[in-house]
Amino acid sequence: MESQLALIEQSFNYRYSVWVREALDELPDNFTITDPSISGHPIVFASRGFLKMSGYSKEEVIGKNGRAFQGPGTSRRSITEIQEAIQEERTIQTILLNYRKDGTPIWMLFHMSPVFSKEDGRVIHFVAVQVPMSRKPRRSGSGPGRDGVCEDGCRSRDIVFGSCRREVCSDSVLELEHVLAFESLFDSDNRDDEEPREASDQEKRRAAAAVNNILSLLTHYSELTGKLVCEKRCNLSGIGLLGASLIISLGRIKQSFVLTDPHLPEMPIAYASDAFLKLTGYARHEVLGCQCMFLSGVDTDPSTLLQVKESIQTEKACTVRILNYRKDRSSFWNLLHISPVRNASGKVSLCALTSIEFMCEEGTESIALRQELKIPVFYNK
Ligand SMILES: Cc1cc2nc3c(=O)[nH]c(=O)nc-3n(C[C@H](O)[C@H](O)[C@H](O)COP(=O)(O)O)c2cc1C
Repeated sequence: MESQLALIEQSFNYRYSVWVREALDELPDNFTITDPSISGHPIVFASRGFLKMSGYSKEEVIGKNGRAFQGPGTSRRSITEIQEAIQEERTIQTILLNYRKDGTPIWMLFHMSPVFSKEDGRVIHFVAVQVPMSRKPRRSGSGPGRDGVCEDGCRSRDIVFGSCRREVCSDSVLELEHVLAFESLFDSDNRDDEEPREASDQEKRRAAAAVNNILSLLTHYSELTGKLVCEKRCNLSGIGLLGASLIISLGRIKQSFVLTDPHLPEMPIAYASDAFLKLTGYARHEVLGCQCMFLSGVDTDPSTLLQVKESIQTEKACTVRILNYRKDRSSFWNLLHISPVRNASGKVSLCALTSIEFMCEEGTESIALRQELKIPVFYNK
């Protein structure tokens, strides 16, 4: 958890100058910023407005995925729309039902946009503004809300215990609060809170303007560090070829590994897992774009290095024992497995280098090789 928080800090501090948090905190809107390159695609910044609206503290929100605010009545359709927008790295506006910490529901207009690195065109953050929506006038008769029907058209009372989101259920205390508050809606004749509604033009404009403001601010504070961000993809180098959704999926793999582009000179690193950063002591931005042999040093055996290069160039898997160096220059024995990653047409598009640190006593490495190397299977679309 500690290293996750360090990655979250780095995600912001590397890209923007120190005053960015203060400047963002002065904005009146409810918004969050996430980093898709960190495992779990966590929130790395939450505005004061968002914390006030949701009832959670900053500590409770930072590091969580946005889905933590969903609950039994949240529409599957809206969630899928958001998933697709993340996958396609584009802006989306959708209506969403979320739940505050005390379990009460809140309808919002959700507006999300990607933030690109000017240098290589990668998506480095997503920004989302949550505009609370005004109450809809009470309808008489048996409208959807009065019947306890949720955003998707299913009966909400039925789904409370049946199909609330698995991730939300994992926090049992929080979920219990959601369920109790949800149940009370039926008891207190307060069902209008659960009615689907349409966003007004004013709400749509407010959401878009807020996102634009945040993006201009991020652009400005990135100019001060020279690590420029932009609202539209303005460059697409080899490193930017891994889409945000592939990066989010890779983030779920717990092993220490990097992916390199075997088609470029120096075979630069296009992705580094959190475990790799923990093992080597480097920050992600220090690793991306580096040539894949950058962990070698004075005592690294040149013939092993050659073996690794040949394995990548000839697109053949191999496993070696290699002496590597961390950022603090301390050395470690790395059980390195090199494997080509093929795309759907069978062509090698990336190369995966999986690392395991191990104690090396002469003669024991073959046992270690067989027993310790649990190699993740990579599939690249
Ligand atoms: C910047 C950002 C902020 C988000 N904020 C919220 C939020 O406040 N409430 C919510 O229900 N989902 C939010 N999401 C969406 C979820 O994090 C997640 O992407 C969505 O539920 C679809 O993916 P899943 O099926 O993996 O949960 C946010 C996503 C991003 C990128």
